Amino acid sequence: MPFATPSPFAAEALELGDHTDHMAKEIEEQPAVVAEILDRIAGRAVDGSMWRGLGLASFERVAVVACGTSLNAGQVIATALRGLGGVPTDTVVASEADQAVLTPGTLVVAISQSGETADVLRALDRFADRYQVLALTNNLHSSLARRADAVLDCHAGPEIGVAATKTFTAQVVVGVSAMISALVASGRIDRSRALALVGDMQRLPGLLAGAAEASLDRIPLLVSSVRDASGFLFLGRGAGLPFAAEGALKLKELSYRWAEAYPAGELKHGPLALVTDGTPRGRRRQRRAQDPGERRRGPCPRRLRHHHRWCRRRRTRTRTRRRPAALATDRRDRPGHVALGGRSSPWSPLQMLARELALQLGCDVDKPRNLAKSVTVE
Ligand code: G6P
Repeated sequence: MPFATPSPFAAEALELGDHTDHMAKEIEEQPAVVAEILDRIAGRAVDGSMWRGLGLASFERVAVVACGTSLNAGQVIATALRGLGGVPTDTVVASEADQAVLTPGTLVVAISQSGETADVLRALDRFADRYQVLALTNNLHSSLARRADAVLDCHAGPEIGVAATKTFTAQVVVGVSAMISALVASGRIDRSRALALVGDMQRLPGLLAGAAEASLDRIPLLVSSVRDASGFLFLGRGAGLPFAAEGALKLKELSYRWAEAYPAGELKHGPLALVTDGTPRGRRRQRRAQDPGERRRGPCPRRLRHHHRWCRRRRTRTRTRRRPAALATDRRDRPGHVALGGRSSPWSPLQMLARELALQLGCDVDKPRNLAKSVTVE
């Protein structure tokens, strides 16, 4: 980092500019945030020095500990670690940490954009004496940063909107980069593989920008056709599941409508009871979007297509013929690639969907009711 830079909290950095709300601005900033992060760390991810610089011992297992959006980011990071390095992972909902049993050699990765979430700090009371803790936060001066053995800065810049957008993206990119670096440093993958994976991530700014651009006109149309739906199911598979979970979380935070994420295979084991005449049903490209980890046969993944058929048999409506193209995944996806860029679709359209629905329903997208940016009570 250069010695002298403008403060990210300078007045102009916090101004809305041409945007109507901070959430719109923060969604739009994501490609630049990712590009800047990768400029800083790509080389150090590939040669293993990003991990070695943290001064942590090697690990056998990783436990992700977080809440809300940070937990979803943690799931993306854990999925990448399992898929790329075969490292076992645990996911611990911070407020349920008392129930977790971790094994020796576990690295705890505690994730919180604010670094002040009480549930996460309380979880550290349980883990910090026995396990190494790596914090992933957007606030290097936070309680979490002070209490961890090592800290990764998310470099997302200030986020004003209560619902996390660019901090999610930054957590994912920094966290996955750190895990790639750890896999290189431990000899689990070689540098050429890391180079290919980081190369995949370097496509992400373009993918996010393209997805947002393509969705700009289409999301409002889509939303006006589903605005009256009382609830939303986000179905996903494999590496797409955390993105489905984040899409559902954003939608309920902002629009106050019920939204749940399910593994697509679970649809027939209960949630299908909610699907009835008139339930809006997404079309092919939307389904594909939350299934980044599957090998494709034909225009959409076989198993998601199968679950889509379950809905069709229940005479659901396909409400839009105009697909949000931005939700499409990359055709060059292939197994074994990092769950970003190369294998997953950009997620900004899911954030835009939640924001647009909230706006059409007259909700305040920057300050959703009952929610706070930093939850400092248990
Ligand atoms: C609150 C916010 C969520 C956020 C969660 C975790 O509940 O409303 O949007 O994801 O806290 O926040 P953190 O600062 O720990 O990432």
